[in-house]
Amino acid sequence: MKDLARQLSDAHAAVFAALGIDTAYSAVTRSNRPDLGEFQSNGALAAARATGRQPREIAEAAAARWSATGIAAPPTIAGPGFLNFTVTADALAARAEAIAADARAGATLVETPRTVIVDYGGPNVAKGMHVGHLRASIIGDSLKRLFRFRGDDVIGDAHFGDWGLQMGLLIVAVADAVGGLDAAGLEPFLAALTLADLEAMYPAAAARAKDDAAFRQRAREATAALQAGTEPHRKIWRALRDVSLATQKRDFAALGVDFDLWLGESDAEPYIREMIADLEQQGLLEDSEGARVVRVAEPGETRRKKLPDGSTIEIETPNPLIVVSSEGSSMYGTTDLATILQRARNNEPDLYLYVVDQRQAEHFEQVFRAAGRAGFAPREALEHIGFGTVNGADGKPFKTRAGGVLKLQDLIGQAEDAARARLRAAELGASFPPQEFEDVAHKVAIASIKFADLVNYRSTSYVFDLDRFTSFEGRSGPYLLYQAVRIKSLLAKAREQHAEPGPVSVEHAAERALVLVLDAFDGTLARAYDKRAPHLLAEHAYALAQQFSAFYENCPVLAERGAARASRLTLAGAVLAQLETSLGLLGIEIPERM
Ligand code: ARG
Repeated sequence: MKDLARQLSDAHAAVFAALGIDTAYSAVTRSNRPDLGEFQSNGALAAARATGRQPREIAEAAAARWSATGIAAPPTIAGPGFLNFTVTADALAARAEAIAADARAGATLVETPRTVIVDYGGPNVAKGMHVGHLRASIIGDSLKRLFRFRGDDVIGDAHFGDWGLQMGLLIVAVADAVGGLDAAGLEPFLAALTLADLEAMYPAAAARAKDDAAFRQRAREATAALQAGTEPHRKIWRALRDVSLATQKRDFAALGVDFDLWLGESDAEPYIREMIADLEQQGLLEDSEGARVVRVAEPGETRRKKLPDGSTIEIETPNPLIVVSSEGSSMYGTTDLATILQRARNNEPDLYLYVVDQRQAEHFEQVFRAAGRAGFAPREALEHIGFGTVNGADGKPFKTRAGGVLKLQDLIGQAEDAARARLRAAELGASFPPQEFEDVAHKVAIASIKFADLVNYRSTSYVFDLDRFTSFEGRSGPYLLYQAVRIKSLLAKAREQHAEPGPVSVEHAAERALVLVLDAFDGTLARAYDKRAPHLLAEHAYALAQQFSAFYENCPVLAERGAARASRLTLAGAVLAQLETSLGLLGIEIPERM
């Protein structure tokens, strides 16, 4: 069934058609002045502008014809000719029943499904996942679920960072640790390697490369050798990658984030030679200080750059994309460009979404323009879905007290500790078997982290505050879980009492308000999808839980008898189903009880 805004738009179109007015002006939308009406249209104004008639006159003629629709009472006219609509109780009841009977909780599907690849998560080999990868994982996972739910064929890919200079740095560090690449100690060293070792080795090697030019040069050469397939570089690389992947898979599982493809930069390697030949043939590669680059700036696209001596020069922007470094190796942009070729061949996506930190915007602009120019994928099919940072109280990207990055595993552990304390303080789950209590605490922890992230518009940075995230009050994940569990227990009690749901009647203002929120779901999903903005869905879940609370306070359910009880049970069931669907799309699981 269409949502109320679309039902009203259809009825309004029929009214306009009968009056000989262009139905292009008939859209009815949710009102931003709920005091005047639930829905509104400014079509009379637009139609008047187009035809030179008086808006008020059109509005009055339309209002006079409206009465027979059954969906809304005749609209009131405000100001110069705005129409304000109040939906009939029957139309609300019919809509609520349709949502309650719908396995998709009132959500429609896209008309033309597409194949969509979502690139998210993006952890790097040899670096444990940290709070910075959290947003890429959470937002990407939610977008994947949302697009899939709307009917697209969606492929999620982790795109591990496993092919750049960091690999060369680590190979050289391993070589130094065992006394050379041909040392007998190499095999046993690799066999005993842990992620903790790598996490100590990598920052040390990266720091040394900053001041030690000879070391940096060796790392570059090792990177080129790895990429050329040289041994033992490949063997070392594989060992580093395996150790990292195992831990990352564990971290993703704890977070409840999954991928269809667990590919990385290295998987683009088979496409690179061919890609470079193609770019050469198209005349797109140019020399730049020994490197081969693709220029992507349009004529006149420049920005001022300050030189160390204080003078400024004009440079083209975006910068050219480096495809082959001066050592002959592949860069971050090289593997990203080749990955587009790979994805185009293997998956034929209509849309490529890259859920990556906003600070990489220029990188993606370079890659997307280069891909468009080379004809690997249309520029419009490639989108960078940027996001802001998770900050500390100081407003800077979050660091631990020791100044390091907070590992994902530790972050989840801290959230679980906070969740346990919150549950105990609220005397929730006190009688549960320990295993169930732990499971609830884990779900509360994950809901806290994910909801706190997703409720912000993605480009907004937010402050990491576990205390607030885990609160059972306010706009928080635990609040939503608690409300959902409360409805579950209400419905379980109803079943025990053999109280059956039945036809809906909308009488109380709180019932009316609740059905209007249920009805908004489909439009919200469409907007969240169009804008790649899961926060709209998070806001909807919160509005629904809050409106349910108000309804439950004002409209007794099990204390009622007969038709009123049956109607309210149907409403409660519809709310639970829609809340579960919404939270599911945010990647949030609800415990059975709490
Ligand atoms: N590994 C990268 C990082 O940690 C993110 C990868 C994002 N995806 C991509 N196709 N470049 O910054």
